[in-house]
Amino acid sequence: MTSIELLGHSGLAVRHAGKLLLCDPWMSRQGAYNASWFQYPEYKGDLEALTSPDVVYISHEHLDHYDPEFLGRVPRSVPVLTGRVHKKRLVSRLRRLGFQTIVELDNFEAFEVAPGFVVKIATPTFKCPPHWFDSCALLELGDHKVLNLNDCNLALPVADLRAEGIDVLLAQATPAIWYPLVYTTYDEARKKELAAVRRESAISSFVTSAKALQPRLAIPFAGPPCFFDPELARFFFGPDSMFPSPSVAAARLAAETEIAGMVLKPGDVLVIGERGAPDEFRLEPCEAYADFDYERDRTAYYELHRAEKERVVAEVLAAVPPAAPGLFERFRRHFLPFLKGHPYFVEHIGMRLLFRITGEHGGNWIVDFRPQTQSAPGAPVAKPELVYPDDGEPCQYEFEMTSALLDQVMRDELSWEDAFLSLRFKAHRDPDRYNQHLFTLFKMSDSRALHAIQKAETADREHDTFVLETGGKCYEVQRFCPHGGSDLSEADVEGGQIVCPGHHWRFSLSDGVCTNAAGRIRIRELPADDTVKVRAAAKA
Ligand code: FES
Repeated sequence: MTSIELLGHSGLAVRHAGKLLLCDPWMSRQGAYNASWFQYPEYKGDLEALTSPDVVYISHEHLDHYDPEFLGRVPRSVPVLTGRVHKKRLVSRLRRLGFQTIVELDNFEAFEVAPGFVVKIATPTFKCPPHWFDSCALLELGDHKVLNLNDCNLALPVADLRAEGIDVLLAQATPAIWYPLVYTTYDEARKKELAAVRRESAISSFVTSAKALQPRLAIPFAGPPCFFDPELARFFFGPDSMFPSPSVAAARLAAETEIAGMVLKPGDVLVIGERGAPDEFRLEPCEAYADFDYERDRTAYYELHRAEKERVVAEVLAAVPPAAPGLFERFRRHFLPFLKGHPYFVEHIGMRLLFRITGEHGGNWIVDFRPQTQSAPGAPVAKPELVYPDDGEPCQYEFEMTSALLDQVMRDELSWEDAFLSLRFKAHRDPDRYNQHLFTLFKMSDSRALHAIQKAETADREHDTFVLETGGKCYEVQRFCPHGGSDLSEADVEGGQIVCPGHHWRFSLSDGVCTNAAGRIRIRELPADDTVKVRAAAKA
């Protein structure tokens, strides 16, 4: 029998040919990100029965996908698959847990779990700049193909994937991001508007993925997270929560497409039968959630589990050690290699960051990413220290967090993104503009990955263009999105703008400027007689 059981959030148990593959089993009862995120709703099945899989696949290092506590119960001889990306933090974590066979798969390289049961992994680095470390898995289960797109959006070779002929698509339908919730740049009303945009973007990303990949069945999953910390609970409630549920995304899919949708609750099993049979895709519902509704039951679920989970939150937070003495020195040593070893990033970040670190051994500290200027050749630079106590001069970005949380990042217990995803920090920016290179640096924090990104961004990609015909005109357009490398030849054009299928950055057809983020693409309108030439070049 072939079946896919939802283990909650983005966890899947895939059974085929007598083998069990676990995908992103985030099962910890302590949640993730210092007990900030919890599964919604929690898996009620037999966890013990899941601890002897044949293979495990981890899509990326975020803690709602990579759960060291659950993996600690899995025999270390079980092969763990992941995509080959430049950042090696996930692989080194798996090694530290003691796994003996960690398989980093190149794009579409096959791993055979059993005859007729094949896993192929794709990462957004395929043909694109290596700004990401997510991956997705194409599962070949007999004559069925299932794409576990996960958090990848469409920063992927869409045409290649579509050509595979996808039977079942599982894709994220809720954002995993801290913006704008933690930003003090906005008042509550503005924050609500911006959160609504993120919510909408997540729903439409799911629908866009389905439209682009044309599966026979599309299943939204991977969220929303539930926040039991009383300080964060407000982010979970209300019909306008930034984190929509699978049922909202499935309803949108039904309204906009003919593609069949399905909503799974934890413990529900999709049984895949014979191709073309009336019950080819059959849902076996889990009794525990037979009457559960993701949207209707948010409050009831929260109240039912509140006391128990608030206790867990308190225990986890109490177990985080206070910052040790010498935090500033560790902070300085953390940033100096990036400031000194990556002038390309320094130039593109180009601003001063202020960190307000509260609690023991904290302080107000500057990280100075301005290029070092000299008043005359040989003269000393203005701020040679690069990381120094606040001097009261203006900063363009501010972060506020506790010294204990910062020290977890300094010890590499949490990555910067783990700390940000905990939502237990505040941020402020002025000017109010996303700084892509700053967040790429936070995301990667890895010299090798940063060098790869620099190389990709500065490579001569003049040839990476395509011809777009729209509104009776022809344009030569940069092929890959500057945000994360999605293929813009797959983009829709709406209202005179190219809408990136990755995360919906919108680029004006007239000058290539991004209208909803800081970015730009190369674009030029072609005189009629140029069109044929460019087409020929693109073909060559
Ligand atoms: S890849 Fe993110 S908006 Fe284009």
